[in-house]
Amino acid sequence: MNNQKFGYQDDNQKITLDFATGKEIILNIITPEIIEVFEDHGCATNSYAIEGNKKQPTDYTVTDCGDHIEVQTTALIGKVYPDRKIDFYDAQNHPLVLDYRGERQMLPTDMDDEHRNTVMSEGHAVHAKATPDNVNFEILKSLAKDEVFYGLGGKTGFLNKRGYEYDNWNTDVPVLHNDSQTHLYKSIPVVYGMKNGYPYGLFFDDTYKSHFDLGKESDNYYFYSAVGGNVDYYVLGGQTLQAVVANYTYLTGRTPLPQKWMLGYQQSRWGYSISDTRVEDIADKFAEYDLPLDVIHLDIDYMRGYRDFTWDTTKFTDPEAFVQKMRERGIRLMPILDAGVKVDDKYDIYKEGMAKGYFVTNPDGSVYIGSVWPGDSVFPDFGNPDVRAWWAKHIKFFADMGACGIWNDMDEPANFRAKGQLPDDLVFHNGQEKTTHAKMHNVFGHLQSQAAYEGMKAATQQRPYIISRAAYAGTQKYSTVWTGDNAAVWSHLQLAIPQLNGLGMSGFAFAGTDIGGFQEDTTPELLTRWVEASVLVPLMRNHSILGSRYQEPWSFDQQTLDIYRKYLNLRYRLIPYLYDQFHQAETSGLPVMRPLVLNYPQDRETWNLNDQYLVGDNILVAPIVNQGATKRMVYLPAGEWVDFWNNTEYAGQRYVMVDAPLDTLPLFVRKDTIIPWGNKVMHVSDEPEKMMTFKVYGNQGTYCHYQDNGQDFKYQQGEFNEYVINVANDQIEVRLQKHDFKPVYQHIVVETATKHAKFTFDSESDQYRQVETN
Ligand code: GLC
Repeated sequence: MNNQKFGYQDDNQKITLDFATGKEIILNIITPEIIEVFEDHGCATNSYAIEGNKKQPTDYTVTDCGDHIEVQTTALIGKVYPDRKIDFYDAQNHPLVLDYRGERQMLPTDMDDEHRNTVMSEGHAVHAKATPDNVNFEILKSLAKDEVFYGLGGKTGFLNKRGYEYDNWNTDVPVLHNDSQTHLYKSIPVVYGMKNGYPYGLFFDDTYKSHFDLGKESDNYYFYSAVGGNVDYYVLGGQTLQAVVANYTYLTGRTPLPQKWMLGYQQSRWGYSISDTRVEDIADKFAEYDLPLDVIHLDIDYMRGYRDFTWDTTKFTDPEAFVQKMRERGIRLMPILDAGVKVDDKYDIYKEGMAKGYFVTNPDGSVYIGSVWPGDSVFPDFGNPDVRAWWAKHIKFFADMGACGIWNDMDEPANFRAKGQLPDDLVFHNGQEKTTHAKMHNVFGHLQSQAAYEGMKAATQQRPYIISRAAYAGTQKYSTVWTGDNAAVWSHLQLAIPQLNGLGMSGFAFAGTDIGGFQEDTTPELLTRWVEASVLVPLMRNHSILGSRYQEPWSFDQQTLDIYRKYLNLRYRLIPYLYDQFHQAETSGLPVMRPLVLNYPQDRETWNLNDQYLVGDNILVAPIVNQGATKRMVYLPAGEWVDFWNNTEYAGQRYVMVDAPLDTLPLFVRKDTIIPWGNKVMHVSDEPEKMMTFKVYGNQGTYCHYQDNGQDFKYQQGEFNEYVINVANDQIEVRLQKHDFKPVYQHIVVETATKHAKFTFDSESDQYRQVETN
């Protein structure tokens, strides 16, 4: 070794590297496919994304190779050089993540102070560029010619993030979410790359404001920078892109199985909750127009003067009885809950929180007062575990009312003062320690969701239904998310697909957009195409802003209503398939809704496919996302595909042109697949279904179908059933492979192109008997 100081200590999967200059760098081997890179910058080291010890006993070697030190597992090789550069390769030595050896070359802007003012005088925004001077550290990685990027949660723009820059700073963005908007409501700092076709992931576990430039500034490097925190990132390996995603969700947690009714259709609008009669009127209309529905959301008006944990009894005479009455009609109510607590000496939540010192303070110790819907508002210090426990305890108010969950909003947190933010220097807790808003901002919504989840779970023992607008990496363990305040414009229907695919890749298997668009006035055509596009989106909710044109299914003409109904019915038929996918997602860590690249990363045609998605492995959805279009090109990946509507078969790995008149969503099923086909229902029932149909696309197939009580956690103790349907050589077999949840389907029907075979449960043999075929 030339340099005396360059060396390492190896302590049980923790390799500490010393350099002639600068701090030590630690490589933590978490699993064969996950290595953490850590450099201490004097900040707290607890993670909000990763819970529990994820380190697995792993075989590895550390070798001093003279000019570098090499750390090797069965899947990853890390090479560390005396100049502090680190390169990661896969086990076959294909480069994955290499430190860049040059300096940043900032894009020239010709901007000086005078010109900045001139540009701004017309109202243009001038964005401060991320420079090495305004950040705590920058990490530059080399970029290959054809490297592509995915992930980052629900950012704006396209599926492949190459060529764009993004910020991680949770923000309420009430204006149009365009490609140029670098940050929205969530910060999920995970990026997946494919370098020369070899997949990897990088997860930067830092809650401070951070920045990604993914090849916008240069074709030679991409970079990550942050204004605070330690250098703490995870290199994720894996043979396939799916394996890399599974490693990320191993680390940050998987989306838990929802209650089954959460997959039902949901209707919302800011304004419904002005009275119980208005809410009931919506439920009546759904019944009148023969439209299935599971949940109506209650926006802020149900509260007493926008006070959290209150219910205005001048608008809802007896809220509990009302919730119950709706429940008897098969409809659940989902109240919103905002982050800001009204300043009001006569309001118990405010008084209690003040007495206990639970609200965020200014540096001088006084409670910070911002403004949200109720006017002057204070913000719970969710970084303090006692505050979370207190909030969770109050969640019982909603559980006791019979509300079906909690819809968390304004939890970035949003503020109507101070340019929409809380000041950076406000005092928060990080556990027992004091810290700043700058550190806790991006996990505010995460922690509020955790509190709501734990409160609901304790109060009901059911799988909690929490929806949040803000999120950080790992929030998927506690909450479903929606993409925030989109608008009724075609570009936002287009955006919905890459956004939701990005969220799926980033751990959020349960996500959705406001169908029809939240802001602005929708059109019948846009609403129609949006509900079609959302037929298999995990969270299916139509929501709109107060004052916009109504966008309930019946708000336009008969045709719009009929098409809307057609897709709601299709949704309910496919809920058993979706539920099976959620069951698999909890184990595999892969999303339910996913971009084609996740299943076909070797196929370059999938790398930039923005307007299609897969649901699991076997259903492909290719919505119309352009006004006036009645045909579209669909890319079918390898294999053979069957048109859902007319059974036309297509060979894959090519584009096909398909007709898509207004009532037709291009929808394909992989040939030789079996799909469960639920009964026609108006709501997801609390009672186990008595019958299930399975449809065979193609001539054969095998399918494993999951069933449990759809509500609580008993499935985790093994209380579930598994049915295996097998069709081969004209033989149809139905087998109850696992029977630990008592109720079973009394009848099962298997439909092939030529046959309709009916099976009946025989309790004596605990198996199915074929009773008829026609
Ligand atoms: C925010 C939410 C939106 C809600 C509104 C009123 O804009 O994103 O969904 O309707 O607040 O509560």
